[in-house]
Amino acid sequence: MPASARLVVLVSGSGTNLQALLDACADPAYGARVVAVGADRDDIEGLARAERAGVPTFVRRVPDYTSREHWDRALTDAVAAFEPDLVVSAGFMKLVGEDFLARFEGRMLNTHPALSPSFPGMHGPAEALAYGVKVTGATLFVVDGGIDTGPIVAQVAVPVEDGDDQASLHERIKAAERAMLVESVGRMARAGWSVDGRRVRLG
Ligand code: GAR
Repeated sequence: MPASARLVVLVSGSGTNLQALLDACADPAYGARVVAVGADRDDIEGLARAERAGVPTFVRRVPDYTSREHWDRALTDAVAAFEPDLVVSAGFMKLVGEDFLARFEGRMLNTHPALSPSFPGMHGPAEALAYGVKVTGATLFVVDGGIDTGPIVAQVAVPVEDGDDQASLHERIKAAERAMLVESVGRMARAGWSVDGRRVRLG
């Protein structure tokens, strides 16, 4: 890893995970900096957070392309232009395609608000609540071609409380998720990592 690892962060919404990374990167000892933030839609708080931090942004919207493959290629080129060491999907609500995975294989992370392999997809907190689990959490993983299936970097457990609704549970998960993301990305940036089958080792 270089002295300061280059992060490109992808967002689709409020960007609180992005904000946690931006805040951590303000300390040079953290070992990483956010060099760009990309999104699949305009007018989201995630992009505003990047702009306030003086970080370049780009938007690649699926409906602006003739096919999903063209969109994927455009997103790949936009990210690659910033020469990232790590790409962090932080609430990015799109699956990337083959081009993207081929270009950033082994160095794209995603954070998911459930304990994999439970509750993959877009509704992790709601599905955990509906199932009635007593413990759920968040998972940071290296992206592969599946839906939230990649090798696991870190997980954090979060209790489900009796009075929870989807929003309160997701907020509790997100607080733990942000801390896990900041801790893991910092360790990866400072000490490197390896992926051996399904096993990820930091340092
Ligand atoms: C996070 O909880 C993230 O895990 C989730 O969206 C939230 C984004 O929050 N992602 C998914 O559900 C993807 N399957 P943020 O925009 O405030 O960082």
